[in-house]
Amino acid sequence: MKAYCKTFGCQQNVRDSETAAGLLVQCGYALTDTLRDADVIFINTCAIRAHAENKVLSYLGRLKKLKQDKPTLQVIVCGCMPAQPAVAAKLKEQFPQVDIIMAPDALPKLPQLLADSLSGAGRQVDTQPNATWHEPLPVARGAVTPEGVDNSEALVTVMSGCDNYCSYCIVPYVRGRERSRRVTDVLSEVQAAVAGGFSRIMLLGQNVNAYHDGDADFPALLRAINEIDGDFTVRFMTSHPKDADVALFDALAQCDKLEKHLHLPVQSGSSAVLKAMNRKYGREQYLAKVTALRERLPAVRLTSDIIVGFPGETEADFADTLSLVEQVRFDQLFTFLFSPRRGTPAASMADAVPDEVKKERFARLLALQKRIETGEG
Ligand code: SAH
Ligand code: SF4
Ligand code: F3S
Repeated sequence: MKAYCKTFGCQQNVRDSETAAGLLVQCGYALTDTLRDADVIFINTCAIRAHAENKVLSYLGRLKKLKQDKPTLQVIVCGCMPAQPAVAAKLKEQFPQVDIIMAPDALPKLPQLLADSLSGAGRQVDTQPNATWHEPLPVARGAVTPEGVDNSEALVTVMSGCDNYCSYCIVPYVRGRERSRRVTDVLSEVQAAVAGGFSRIMLLGQNVNAYHDGDADFPALLRAINEIDGDFTVRFMTSHPKDADVALFDALAQCDKLEKHLHLPVQSGSSAVLKAMNRKYGREQYLAKVTALRERLPAVRLTSDIIVGFPGETEADFADTLSLVEQVRFDQLFTFLFSPRRGTPAASMADAVPDEVKKERFARLLALQKRIETGEG
């Protein structure tokens, strides 16, 4: 019996798929790269932008024929899409080829859901949030890495969920409240990955700076990981600028195993837009953090995310974004067109930016960043 795993979305999802793959191996399945050979297809989905959801829906559409040809095939849809009630309902109604619909928090129950579905109990649905960590779950590390993602790196989740409610973002609704793993559990997972030959560790969380276990905060966790014996490097994402502070920058500067890189998503260079985004910092505060970081680590590699065309973004707001990018000179930028997400405050905000304006601003931002990266600007 064979299982095929397909992952959409961020590294949290890749790591969750590694757990799913580990559980499926424990259930007796061999992992395959060939869709047609699969007896079980596990699909991990992303809801961050409409484009991400559309890719998943068209993928699911293509599985219909496969399911007709092989009725015993089990199709499992997990991840952030079914964690939205309206999307779970749509999957139930319009995608009869899906046998199991589950939220990420239901992963520990995957073997049971699969057994029930196979025993003819009908379609299984488990989309309830559940704040409990199950330690340790099996992990098929590197076995399900999507194309283009570095599989020499071991992904280690340190916290999950998000309590920030940025007004554009679906994550707090689909990933639930912030919760941290115990320091001892994180350390043993890192130790096991290093013992297993991984030379790079990537610590994951939607907002790693919210990590806490008793008195231990995220910088303390970094220092504890830095003490682990072995020849390996560590990086982490994502840091929210409101929480990234000098304790983090000091740890980054002082711990020799930490890669000198910080991903610090700014989202916009306009304080008015940042306020509407509920980011809880302004342009000047962001710039002050960058200065404090570079004082400690002049050669730090700094990367960021920017959303173009947030509702109400004026030409002057966008000019502020361009000037911030020019001032900071990020090493790399990930840029996104604003995509309204059902149930988020920004989806019903007035003054939507017309598509052509969004695209034109997007192109200007890309051109500026390209000039910076090639040293021409
Ligand atoms: N927790 C991380 C990552 C969130 S998702 C953080 O706080 O930065 C990754 C990026 O997707 C975000 O940084 C943001 O730039 C972008 N994004 C999130 N929601 C979006 C939306 N509705 N439309 C466009 N881009 C979005
Ligand atoms: Fe989304 Fe904001 Fe949380 Fe990041 S910090 S996951 S952008 S709500
Ligand atoms: Fe997407 Fe969920 Fe990650 S919405 S970006 S897979 S947390």
